[in-house]
Amino acid sequence: MGSLSNKHLVLGVTGGIAAYKSADLARRLRELGAEIRVVMTRAATEFITPLTMQAVSANPVRLHMLDAEAESGMSHIELARWADAVIVAPASANFIAKMAHGRADDLLSTLCLATEAVVALAPAMNQQMWENPATQDNLARVKQNGVRVFGPAQGAQACGETGPGRMLEPTEIAARAAELFSTGALDGRHVLVTAGPTWEALDPVRGITNRSSGKMGYAVAEAALEAGASVVLVSGPTALADPEGVTTVHVRSAQEMLEAVHAQANNIDIFIAVAAVGDYRPETVAPQKIKKHSDTLTIKLVKNPDILASVAALSPAPFTVGFAAETENLEHHARKKLLDKRIDLIVANDVRVGSAGFDSDYNQLLLIDKNGVIELPRARKIRLARALIQRVAGKYHAKSTAQDSRYAHR
Ligand SMILES: Cc1cc2nc3c(=O)[nH]c(=O)nc-3n(C[C@H](O)[C@H](O)[C@H](O)COP(=O)(O)O)c2cc1C
Repeated sequence: MGSLSNKHLVLGVTGGIAAYKSADLARRLRELGAEIRVVMTRAATEFITPLTMQAVSANPVRLHMLDAEAESGMSHIELARWADAVIVAPASANFIAKMAHGRADDLLSTLCLATEAVVALAPAMNQQMWENPATQDNLARVKQNGVRVFGPAQGAQACGETGPGRMLEPTEIAARAAELFSTGALDGRHVLVTAGPTWEALDPVRGITNRSSGKMGYAVAEAALEAGASVVLVSGPTALADPEGVTTVHVRSAQEMLEAVHAQANNIDIFIAVAAVGDYRPETVAPQKIKKHSDTLTIKLVKNPDILASVAALSPAPFTVGFAAETENLEHHARKKLLDKRIDLIVANDVRVGSAGFDSDYNQLLLIDKNGVIELPRARKIRLARALIQRVAGKYHAKSTAQDSRYAHR
């Protein structure tokens, strides 16, 4: 089964008998790694208590559109923005009708209108209700609007009838939810990502490092995995857990990172260098802890290898993407790096204090290549990573096609 690690899911529960299964579904989604916020309709609370849903989701349940307390924390708009996907299970005939017509008379229906995230419905209703032309028309309309529909299944129903309209089982809905994030844009491709800072030892206990948290690189690795690639992540020291499904290689220094990258570099299609590699390292590493003898201490630094340029110089080189963390003249410095290192795409991010960037869960990026600049406005790093991977996949495929046709004409 796929993973939902790092995904923010709103689980909407509407008024149907199958609502008793929503508690199990919340658990299944969390088992796959998702963070859940539950929103229930008034009718849903007649079938299962908010307390149960709060306990299984590990978060307060939202019930009302007008909730002063919630507005000061996570308003309905923030919730709509927070979500990577909204899964409504069970979705009543009434809720599907409201979605079909864009009604927004409670929190869940308003949220579904307000979100940019994918919305998926798991219908559950009596088979006559399901087969009613009004329901079928409403379904066709919501599908046309991009809403995903999971199921329903056939079989015995709570009302004693048999036919279509049973909600899919929670395990099946959870699996379908994980599939929502699998774009297939990099199916069968091999992607190598570097992440985090490097650590250049001065002595056995001290070293030179930087403020990179690794979050952006780990998000890029996860997004590449979602896109169907097999992914190797070479990571400097971070506090992050290894992403599930990604082969993670841990290194400390720039030299170790270089070696780990080149151990893979001949077998990859795409290289994305997100790591903040130290430009310099101490010329010598003291074998014992340096003592505080004098008032000043001079440390001579020597240049580290340029990992990004070394991969871009391979023949054949993978599609190569670099990151440029800058504190001034972002576009200018990034464009220079693009040209100097002869890479395919450079991703510039502003890491001035107070900006998104290092340490933050948010970032904003400029994608620069020979064709121009694309701005990805401030968003969660995983969202930016997905948008980046979509662009990288498009550019990678375009370049491969262009190369194939050049060879064909020789
Ligand atoms: C016992 C009982 C079971 C119901 N089961 C369903 C159901 O499975 N599916 C459905 O669409 N409606 C069902 N309904 C009707 C909905 O609860 C009703 O249409 C309600 O307005 C839905 O509100 P909501 O869409 O805001 O949650 C049931 C009603 C009752 C009293």
